[in-house]
Amino acid sequence: MTASTNPFLDATVREGLYRDASRLSARTSALHRAKTRGRPVAEVIADLASAHLLAPQPSLVIDIGCGRGTSSRVLTERLRPRRLIGIDASAAMLDDARARLGVTGDAASFVQADFHHLPVPSGTCTVAVAAFCLYHASRPEAVITEIARTLAPGGIAILVTKSADSYRDLDVLVANAGLDPDAPHRESLYAAAHSANLAGLTEPVLPIEHLEHEEHGFTFADLSHVAEYLATSPKYHLPAELHGAPAAIAVALRARLSDAPVSTTSIVTYLLARKPGGAR
Ligand SMILES: C[S@@+](CC[C@H](N)C(=O)[O-])C[C@H]1O[C@@H](n2cnc3c(N)ncnc32)[C@H](O)[C@@H]1O
Repeated sequence: MTASTNPFLDATVREGLYRDASRLSARTSALHRAKTRGRPVAEVIADLASAHLLAPQPSLVIDIGCGRGTSSRVLTERLRPRRLIGIDASAAMLDDARARLGVTGDAASFVQADFHHLPVPSGTCTVAVAAFCLYHASRPEAVITEIARTLAPGGIAILVTKSADSYRDLDVLVANAGLDPDAPHRESLYAAAHSANLAGLTEPVLPIEHLEHEEHGFTFADLSHVAEYLATSPKYHLPAELHGAPAAIAVALRARLSDAPVSTTSIVTYLLARKPGGAR
């Protein structure tokens, strides 16, 4: 794959981002502590699946781009599928997911694969979830087509992404601090698959049954808290000495900005599509 200017679409950068679980964990932790508004995503996915399942117990659930297994765990507990397979390109994420779920039997397993070639036979999945990962594909419609291949007749796909302008206030903050003046003008990390284009990507492949958008709110307690998040983002072109260094980023922010809480938003979009067929 050729390198893209968008780090989420650059294979080398992406592999670096998910080479060990600590970076995703730090990013999620900083965001989670800042969160003021918005339902827990994994619970919403499970609610949607429960409400749209044709039979009470799904036979096969796949969690594509499962990362550290947060949604895999909730789906296992809430849907009680006969089998759940978490699929991710990163071996480190899968190790972390296995450790967090404490998998001992056949009910849940984690497999390393690229989501363009899902290791699942055609027509077998009751539920396929792809949360916050389609924006890592330069052609997400190809991944959605692959997801549709795996679905059983009547099976559902739940695709989740965020708005292209997510966390825009942080881009402005980084620019105002003089750390990366171009940040507000750079392409969104989520440009490939975001709240406004997800339906258009899906419609030609699978009929959409449900689409909803929910604004999530975040207030970072102070500049040190923001710096924890910024240190995990590949979006910013920070001076070399600040790369992955939250304490140094905090010092640099405080040199130009007053230390106060920082608020921002992101829209989370949930799309549910169903493969035609199956007893209703
Ligand atoms: C932001 S994490 C999302 C994790 C999880 N779904 C969640 O909602 O917390 C994105 C995940 O997508 C995975 N990923 C990126 N490109 C992929 C690909 N081509 N095939 C499979 N997984 C991929 C990454 O390894 C990472 O674990």
